Amino acid sequence: MQALIFDLDGVITNTSAEFHYLSWQRLADEEGIPFSREANHRLRGVNRMESLKRFLNGLKITPEQEADWLRRKNAYYHELLQQMSPADRLPGISDILDQARDAGIKLGVASASRNARAVLAKLQLLDYFEVVGDAYSAVNPKPAPDLFIWVAGYLHTHIKQTIVFEDSFSGIQAALHAGFWTVGIGEDEVRHAHLRYQTLENVSLQMILEQFEQF
Ligand code: BG6
Ligand code: MG
Repeated sequence: MQALIFDLDGVITNTSAEFHYLSWQRLADEEGIPFSREANHRLRGVNRMESLKRFLNGLKITPEQEADWLRRKNAYYHELLQQMSPADRLPGISDILDQARDAGIKLGVASASRNARAVLAKLQLLDYFEVVGDAYSAVNPKPAPDLFIWVAGYLHTHIKQTIVFEDSFSGIQAALHAGFWTVGIGEDEVRHAHLRYQTLENVSLQMILEQFEQF
């Protein structure tokens, strides 16, 4: 394997995923529209505009309201982001990044978020990655494979020698469409991944690479 590409929300940190949820919930409460943690599940891993569509769930608002609601949701998210620190890295992720760096394996991020760089900066992880692909890097969002292919291109790596780490259904689909090896973090949503872990806690890069040797 030459490279590892990581999704951000739900793979490197869960805190930002929680902040996205809390921000949508605040907006919903202010506007008096129904929303819940369960409903939020459908917004995971999808870009900002598609998240709004799923948030609205058929409710019609004007383009001006759309812009205002998106601006407010992002402002609430940024308020919360101020609290984020390296303590918000998910268990196991720091070790895997260190092990990859020591082994000379290239590292990239492929996130649907426009806030990816701000989150990585808060986690003090920006220096690990040769490239951060975000919502600005590719026009077609996940489950289109474009973002992952863009990151792999930047890393000069072959798709068949690259592993994608993802926690969302659309992210795993995007990586599979392109032909990457996939590691799913979670349960049912990542059922199509080549390898699956509930969490990366106590999982070493060595263990993952040995598993891929079996394929
Ligand atoms: C993804 C999150 O990483 O980014 C989604 O999983 C979120 O929940 C999306 O909606 C877009 O984020 P942002 O930061 O561009 O509003
Ligand atoms: Mg994710």
